[in-house]
Amino acid sequence: SFGAFTINESSIVDSPRFPYRGILIDTSRHYLSVKTILKTLDAMAFNKFNVLHWHIVDDQSFPYQSTTFPQLSNKGSYSPSHVYTPNDVHMVIEYARLRGIRIIPEFDSPGHTESWGKGQKNLLTACYSPEQRIQGVGPINPTLNTTYAFLTSIFTEVSKVFPDQFIHLGGDEVNFECWASNPKIQNFMKKKGFGEDYTKLQSFYMLKLMNIIASLNKVPIVWQEVFDNKAQVRILIPGTVIQVWKDVNYFEELRLITAAGFPVILSAPWYLDWISYGQDWRKYYTVEPLNFSGTEKQKKLILGGEACLWGEYVDATNLTPRLWPRASAVGERLWSRGDIRDLGDAYARLTRHRCRMVKRGIEAEPLFTGYC
Ligand SMILES: *[C@@H]1O[C@H](CO)[C@@H](O)[C@H](O)[C@H]1NC(C)=O
Ligand SMILES: *[C@@H]1O[C@H](CO)[C@@H](O)[C@H](O)[C@H]1NC(C)=O
Ligand SMILES: *[C@@H]1O[C@H](CO)[C@@H](O)[C@H](O)[C@H]1NC(C)=O
Repeated sequence: SFGAFTINESSIVDSPRFPYRGILIDTSRHYLSVKTILKTLDAMAFNKFNVLHWHIVDDQSFPYQSTTFPQLSNKGSYSPSHVYTPNDVHMVIEYARLRGIRIIPEFDSPGHTESWGKGQKNLLTACYSPEQRIQGVGPINPTLNTTYAFLTSIFTEVSKVFPDQFIHLGGDEVNFECWASNPKIQNFMKKKGFGEDYTKLQSFYMLKLMNIIASLNKVPIVWQEVFDNKAQVRILIPGTVIQVWKDVNYFEELRLITAAGFPVILSAPWYLDWISYGQDWRKYYTVEPLNFSGTEKQKKLILGGEACLWGEYVDATNLTPRLWPRASAVGERLWSRGDIRDLGDAYARLTRHRCRMVKRGIEAEPLFTGYC
């Protein structure tokens, strides 16, 4: 009858190649409404993604409403309505769960934390000018005991709110110049025998934070810098997952991290916030995550990958067409057999799939000329 679909009886035998197939959204650079996030979860389910990496806070805003520290979002969000209440967060987690999707929150530190400082006094490092005047704030101050008391409280809350086994701790792009400008930090470096090596100070901080996370029975995920700061390799907690994001020579990075025995999530080739003319999905599709020199044991440490849609230029008006169907190419790469690589065949299937998404109310952009 009209409006009805019929399908022949079929049985499907299918399973994913990689267990971690993620999408990153960024709700700090722009706030995304719960409705937009739920729609993204629907689209993710249509594309067999199973992890939403929720980069929930950053320098620009702190929309996570904490019950322990309500000032963080009271002062750090764009406005009182640009927040995620406990109820909102619960709704997102439950909607995702019903679609086989895990929510992994990221509370990135010690860098990327400017918004945290608005509602939490004495958390951030004061940066000094060459004339020894205080000018602005930098990363979290890793030298104070109060810092770790705060981190213990906030992450105790976060670990209860988000049921997933993993919590993303960030650890990328720390501004060492601010740390280096601060006389009290310089003193601390001297006392600890860190010399001028601020990667050691970051390691000191990350290790303390990772131990807090471990005591909460969660497994940390960190950006690759935490591994790259070689001092930290010895002190990374076993099982810590490293997320590779730098586009230069990422296969070598995969080799090094897996040789050291750590599991990996690959994102470097899949920064979907970078846009260009033409069919960049082909480039995403062509990536082969296991094409690095390493043993079978090393390759088993590649948990999967993640398409990242950073939010500087993205809000609810353009998120969906920017993400789909470009991320669909990543979805197939992470789900299907590695030898399924024919671009012509993929184009035909992706075109049909894009129309399928449009029919289901997902405003996925066209791959090229044609119609649905
Ligand atoms: C269902 O199967 C019949 C008989 O094999 C075939 O003619 C028909 O095209 C199939 N329909 C669909 C929707 O696949
Ligand atoms: C900070 O904690 C360390 C270790 O527990 C302790 O030795 C030190 O005295 C504390 N410092 C302050 C200022 O409380
Ligand atoms: C794997 O890497 C080699 C060397 O860079 C390259 O020639 C080859 O095309 C790659 N294979 C796949 C499937 O990406």
